[in-house]
Amino acid sequence: MMNQEETVPCVDMKVKELENQINLNDEKLTSIMHKMLNEMKKGLGKSTNDQAKVKMIPSYVASLPDGTEKGSFLALDLGGTNFRVLLVEIMDRNEHNNKPNIRMDSQIYRMPKDVITGEGEKLFDHIASCMADFLKRLSLLDKKLPVGFTFSFPCKQHGLDHADLITWTKGFSADGVVGQDVVTMLREAIDRRGEFDCNIIAVVNDTVGTMMSCAHEFPDCQVGLIVGTGSNACYMEKLSNIELLEDSTGDMCINMEWGAFGDDGILNEFRNEFDVHVDENSLNRGKQLYEKMISGMYMGEIVRLALCKLAKDGVIFNGITNGPLFKPGSFETSYVSQIESVVSSGMTAVQNILANLELGALRSDCEVVIRVCQAVSRRAAHLCAAGIAAIAHKIKQNQPENDDLKITVGVDGTVYKKHPTFSKIMAEKVEHLCQGTGVKVEFALSYDGSGKGAALITAVAHRMAQLANADR
Ligand code: GLC
Repeated sequence: MMNQEETVPCVDMKVKELENQINLNDEKLTSIMHKMLNEMKKGLGKSTNDQAKVKMIPSYVASLPDGTEKGSFLALDLGGTNFRVLLVEIMDRNEHNNKPNIRMDSQIYRMPKDVITGEGEKLFDHIASCMADFLKRLSLLDKKLPVGFTFSFPCKQHGLDHADLITWTKGFSADGVVGQDVVTMLREAIDRRGEFDCNIIAVVNDTVGTMMSCAHEFPDCQVGLIVGTGSNACYMEKLSNIELLEDSTGDMCINMEWGAFGDDGILNEFRNEFDVHVDENSLNRGKQLYEKMISGMYMGEIVRLALCKLAKDGVIFNGITNGPLFKPGSFETSYVSQIESVVSSGMTAVQNILANLELGALRSDCEVVIRVCQAVSRRAAHLCAAGIAAIAHKIKQNQPENDDLKITVGVDGTVYKKHPTFSKIMAEKVEHLCQGTGVKVEFALSYDGSGKGAALITAVAHRMAQLANADR
């Protein structure tokens, strides 16, 4: 039997070992940043796009809002466990401070599991029925509103209102949608219903909506980032670098779909046993490997696996080998944010959270749990930082003459918003990785990109279409 003094250093050693296994040092992060930069270039190149895992999808969003857009729009937001319908009214800017003046009303509808994993047509019928319910409640069934559809999955776009689903991510698997144009599928579902009509003008990734919504307030915002259920980024790229398109003047927003970074094995040296386990037990094995190391859908599970290992090794929880902790998915990502948030108020708060999993945690157990949560969330923030730094390097390469480049990143997503230190850790690491480049990166919380941003994109498209008509 070991006495107390001998056990404590042994616990510490085991936890340090695990932290080292999870942590990615600056050398590794720099290497990841360079690999991401290479992938981006591969994705942009005509002859290399086929082999690239980071698809760098042109979004057909080329113009940022100029402040003159106005009107009422319907925005739809599909990309996680909920579906939202929003009415967005963009009015004249405030005459005193020139701030945007936007009014919104919205409703959230749950997406039942059997709908997101069932028949594709049924999924779109469900969306159409939610839209009908919302329009009915606001007495708008007879108005033909312009619609912006935030559809947060990788799609090959052929225009602002055409998007073929490349693959499902984030636990969706509805049949018969991959390869199809989701706008057509939605139009058909609305026609089948025959209860209302609308004009679907734009299909938008959530990153793009986030960037747009932020750009409405901060004109130098040219990057959008989501760290929520999934993770992804977009940024403004020079059309002359987007070899898949013919046009060569001006800029276009690129939806990177960075979640798929590493799907060719390029990140294997940085993945640990928990990452491998999470992937092997996921719906989309071998896919979205970078996302699986970062986003909210997986963060809690990584922590859970690490805790199970420590428990089995007798380091915590008196060496338990069964109970709710051993059930996949039982350690929610929200626990990670909560635990790290309540640390400062003492261990009882942490013990209360762990009680959800029937874990009778001693002070020493709580201290270890906190360290594991911190290690996993810190690594996620660092990985995101490597991606953002790669984007900053790319934008700098596009503008070598700009010695004083300032980039604002609009961010949204539950992990970014709810975790107490994620944003700070990410910003500090980005600064470090951009040292000596002359680029300054700032972050701004983006408010409702999927609603407001999508409506703005729809409004800009509407304005451009009207201009084009007037020119004719
Ligand atoms: C997943 C989707 C991507 C989306 C991201 C954040 O990575 O593939 O389209 O932007 O999640 O929601």
